[in-house]
Amino acid sequence: MQKLFMKILQYINIRKFFIEDFYILQTFHVEHFHFYSISNKEFTKYLSSREYIVIGAISSLTIVGYIICLIVGDEAEIIYLCVHPNYHRIGIASGILQYLIRHIPSLKKIHLEVLMYNTQAIKFYKKQNFIITHVRKNYSDGHDAYAMLKLL
Ligand SMILES: CC(C)(COP(=O)(O)OP(=O)(O)OC[C@H]1O[C@@H](n2cnc3c(N)ncnc32)[C@H](O)[C@@H]1OP(=O)(O)O)[C@@H](O)C(=O)NCCC(=O)NCCS
Repeated sequence: MQKLFMKILQYINIRKFFIEDFYILQTFHVEHFHFYSISNKEFTKYLSSREYIVIGAISSLTIVGYIICLIVGDEAEIIYLCVHPNYHRIGIASGILQYLIRHIPSLKKIHLEVLMYNTQAIKFYKKQNFIITHVRKNYSDGHDAYAMLKLL
């Protein structure tokens, strides 16, 4: 199984996304992650503003995952990190995170907020050496969230 995952990963290209990628990114998001509502205006801002970086993973012209981060000085805040459900647990989110760290070598901190019931994401971030710093009460729809931090 591990060998099969390695083989799939060989065919996945991780790169920075630009405004030209708006259509494929927006289509992917609406198809698989519509519950995280992002307007077209927000996608345009993320893809065209220098404050944000969008990194996507592509397999045969199809997006299989992406990250959107806000960069302020030497800190990155993860706004969204999503991987196609059929491609979970083969290292795509880890690959995207590694790309981010390599692409911006000056980064010292990465932080994010994640709903406390999102155990798969929390396990992922813990595996990536993020630590829980505090709880954000009533983060979304009455649900609490963890604030997490990774020092580089
Ligand atoms: C969280 C998410 C981005 C992880 O992406 P991924 O590509 O599957 O992650 P990777 O393959 O790089 O890393 C896998 C590791 O994360 C953890 N993990 C991920 N999903 C898990 C699950 N369902 N159960 C337990 N551990 C899990 C494990 O440590 C796993 O390592 P292992 O398979 O060796 O045990 C993905 O599950 C996702 O898109 N979730 C929906 C969107 C979301 O919740 N985003 C985060 C919001 S802040």
